[in-house]
Amino acid sequence: MRAHAPYSKFRVAAALEDEQGVVHPGVNVESASLGLTICAERNAVFGAIARGATRFRRIAVVSDGPDTCVPCGACRQVLIEHAPDLVVIVASPTGEPEAIALRDLLPRPFLTW
Ligand code: THU
Repeated sequence: MRAHAPYSKFRVAAALEDEQGVVHPGVNVESASLGLTICAERNAVFGAIARGATRFRRIAVVSDGPDTCVPCGACRQVLIEHAPDLVVIVASPTGEPEAIALRDLLPRPFLTW
């Protein structure tokens, strides 16, 4: 995993699949100015948009911690703005993956349209 997490040691990777089936990777990248850290999920969606993707099917998220890593609130908000019907698949290195509708993780999102 290419995460850069020297401060938290909590490494996260995301794989965002667009409607063409192309998978866009993201990892968390931490900054010495801790608030500038970016999560794996937002890195994935921002990178996908930079490559021209606009519509997305699902995102897989995994950390190297013992438990599943469910996207944080900031990532839920950004993801739902780009993919209201997104399926979030959370996985741990050992357990079974679980699929959750993003709408269930963020039932009343702030949207301006
Ligand atoms: N992190 C993610 O990359 N995704 C999440 O959904 C939760 C948290 C990162 C941010 C930070 O680098 C580390 O995990 C610890 O919070």
